[in-house]
Amino acid sequence: MAILHPLIVGNWKMHGDADFTSELTTSLASWIRDRTEFTGGVVICPPFPWLSMAATHPPLLLGAQDCHAAQEGAYTGDVSAFMLKAAGCQYVILGHSERREYHHEDNALIRAKVSAALDAGLTPILCVGESLNERQSDSTIMVITTQLQECIPAGKAADIIIAYEPLWAIGSGKVPSLQEIDDVHQHIAKWLMQNGVSDAEAITTLYGGSVKPANAAEILGLSSVQGVLVGGASLTEEAFTAIIAAAV
Ligand code: PGA
Repeated sequence: MAILHPLIVGNWKMHGDADFTSELTTSLASWIRDRTEFTGGVVICPPFPWLSMAATHPPLLLGAQDCHAAQEGAYTGDVSAFMLKAAGCQYVILGHSERREYHHEDNALIRAKVSAALDAGLTPILCVGESLNERQSDSTIMVITTQLQECIPAGKAADIIIAYEPLWAIGSGKVPSLQEIDDVHQHIAKWLMQNGVSDAEAITTLYGGSVKPANAAEILGLSSVQGVLVGGASLTEEAFTAIIAAAV
């Protein structure tokens, strides 16, 4: 699996209408085409109804924000990984803290979704991260380790992108120190190397949580960080392109 580095991923969450999607994907694709010095990848993850529309804007890559664990079935309101692949997706975000919180997703379910995504030929972007309480009680590494152990199917560590997203940094404007980000990313890399990843160069671990144009360059400057997962700042061309530019 060749993943372009740095990888800049925009998670639109439940934002945007058809016009917004058409305009932003068109302008982002043309902006990226003009930046020959940028050799990484840019993935956008719009809501389900806009995926097909967003799929036709190379070099933009496409991801979904969730999938069901089954290939098909009587699951009203759900979408399978195979459907996402057919709609043009290459990636799917799984285990985002908003899914864990509002849809009560646990590690076992997320692991089943990761398997389904891999079976469909999608690259899962698995989100892990600690709450503020967990950080303050020095449990961060333990929490992340448990999430990695329980969400990654046996033998699949090399096929998954990890996104480290501290819950308290999402949408809050608060960001861990560079040292704190580096510590967790180094731990994730070590865990992956101990669990089946043979080539350190093949690891893609993203940081997510209040990434903005003002902090993107220093976060992306850490050698343990191979990209960023961006929420709010991926919703305007100005902010998102400034983050991509910080990755050059
Ligand atoms: P944020 O969201 O950039 O708005 O903090 C990140 C995320 O939830 O993936």
